[in-house]
Amino acid sequence: MKHAPAKRKEQNKLRFNVAVLRLGHRLVRDERMSTHIGLVSRAFGARQLVLTGADDHTIDSIKKVSRRWGGDFDVKYLKNWREFVLAFGGIVVHLTMYGEKFNSGMAKIRAEVDHKACRNILVVVGAEKVPREMYEFADYNVSVGNQPHSEVAALAVFLDRLFMGEELYDHFVRAKMRIEPSSKGKKVENLVEN
Ligand SMILES: C[S@@+](CC[C@H](N)C(=O)[O-])C[C@H]1O[C@@H](n2cnc3c(N)ncnc32)[C@H](O)[C@@H]1O
Repeated sequence: MKHAPAKRKEQNKLRFNVAVLRLGHRLVRDERMSTHIGLVSRAFGARQLVLTGADDHTIDSIKKVSRRWGGDFDVKYLKNWREFVLAFGGIVVHLTMYGEKFNSGMAKIRAEVDHKACRNILVVVGAEKVPREMYEFADYNVSVGNQPHSEVAALAVFLDRLFMGEELYDHFVRAKMRIEPSSKGKKVENLVEN
């Protein structure tokens, strides 16, 4: 059976359905990183995060942000990531410092998306060493520069380039709070009636 990212209802005029797969999660050590992967995925236009190792606390804290700030972002834990990747109905992009240059990788991804009229994209990021097979499973192994940095940074840069900034002020349905953009101070609208 083919997997596709969870459907987001009224929200989202974004062009792509993006799911993020986070490979590996070292208990305690990676808790904050995995939470940030979730927050960045959600805020930068992805619809779903799949974790291959996670404690309940990580999943709960991502869900808590979604409840407060809205949207239909889905987060789940999956044991068999290989099956998930192989069954994914769309383009699989693995972000790695060993990958091809960002601009050429993005150009190929865009060309394939247009050619196949495909909107589903799976973005894979690692924690520790990524299993060799992932490099084979991926349609594209793309680097965000060839220096080691962070999966959170790589993901943010990739998503922003994919959506060309359109994701940054996307509407999040059922939000309890919404920020009124302001050049000075903080303006926050409370959307829940007391
Ligand atoms: C601690 S880093 C490990 C670096 C790793 N050796 C690699 O393949 O990129 C964890 C994750 O961050 C992401 N990452 C780090 N640097 C990157 C870069 N320059 N380009 C793309 N992704 C990067 C990758 O997804 C990687 O699996």
